[in-house]
Amino acid sequence: MSDFKIAPSILSADFARLGEEVDNVLSAGADIVHFDVMDNHYVPNLTIGPMVCKALRNHGVTAPIDVHLMVKPVDRMIADFIAAGATYITFHPEASEHIDRSLQMIRDGGCQAGLVFNPATPLHYLDYVMDKVDMILLMSVNPGFGGQSFIPATLGKLQEVRKRIDASGQSIRLEVDGGVTVNNIAGIAAAGADTFVAGSAIFNTDDYADTIAQMRAELAK
Ligand code: DX5
Ligand code: ZN
Repeated sequence: MSDFKIAPSILSADFARLGEEVDNVLSAGADIVHFDVMDNHYVPNLTIGPMVCKALRNHGVTAPIDVHLMVKPVDRMIADFIAAGATYITFHPEASEHIDRSLQMIRDGGCQAGLVFNPATPLHYLDYVMDKVDMILLMSVNPGFGGQSFIPATLGKLQEVRKRIDASGQSIRLEVDGGVTVNNIAGIAAAGADTFVAGSAIFNTDDYADTIAQMRAELAK
C-alpha cells in the first residue's frame, strides 16, 4: 500500500494565526486538513465550527478538509459543514439517532462520509452501512484533547477493520487519530491504516516539513 495520507489536526495549531498555520502545514507536505469539532457535550472540550471551516475556504485553502464531528446531535452540523466546504465529514455512530440517514445526508451533500470509533466502541455499527462509508476513523485516544498517548489496543482493531474493508472490495480510507508520532507511525501503517491524523506531533515541532518528511520516511520503510 502506498497511498498514505498525512492529516495534521489543527487542534494543536495556533488558533490566533490559523490561516497561516494551515498554509504552512500544507506547504510542508500535508495532504489533508483534519478539523476537530468539539461541543462540550459529546466530548469535554469546545473548539471550532462551520464558520471557521468557511473562513479557511475563503482564505484560499483548496486541500481536502476532514471534519471530525465530536458533537451530539450530529445532523444539524452535517448540513452546516456541507455548506461550509467540508470534504470529508465523519461522526461517532453513538451520537447519531439515525446512522444510515446521517451518512446519506453527507453523501447527498456531495461530501465523503465516515464513521468514527472510540477506543471502546464496537465495530458492529459498520454491519449494515459498509456501502455508505468512504472513510472509517479509529480513535487511538479518548476524544476531547490533543497530546495524549496512543492506545496500543488500536493496532488489533485496525487489523480487524482492514480485513473488513478488503473483504468489502470498496475504496474506503482507514484513518487513525490520536497519539500518532514519527516513532509509531510505521507500526500503525503495518496494522492497516492509510490516513494518519497527527496534531501535537506536527504542530509542536519547529519545522513542519521536516516532521512530515520523517513520517513519510517511516512509511516508506
Ligand atoms: C482528539 C482529536 C484529535 C487530536 C489529535 O479528540 O480528535 O484529532 O487533535 O491530537 P494528537 O495528534 O496530539 O494526539
Ligand atoms: Zn480528530
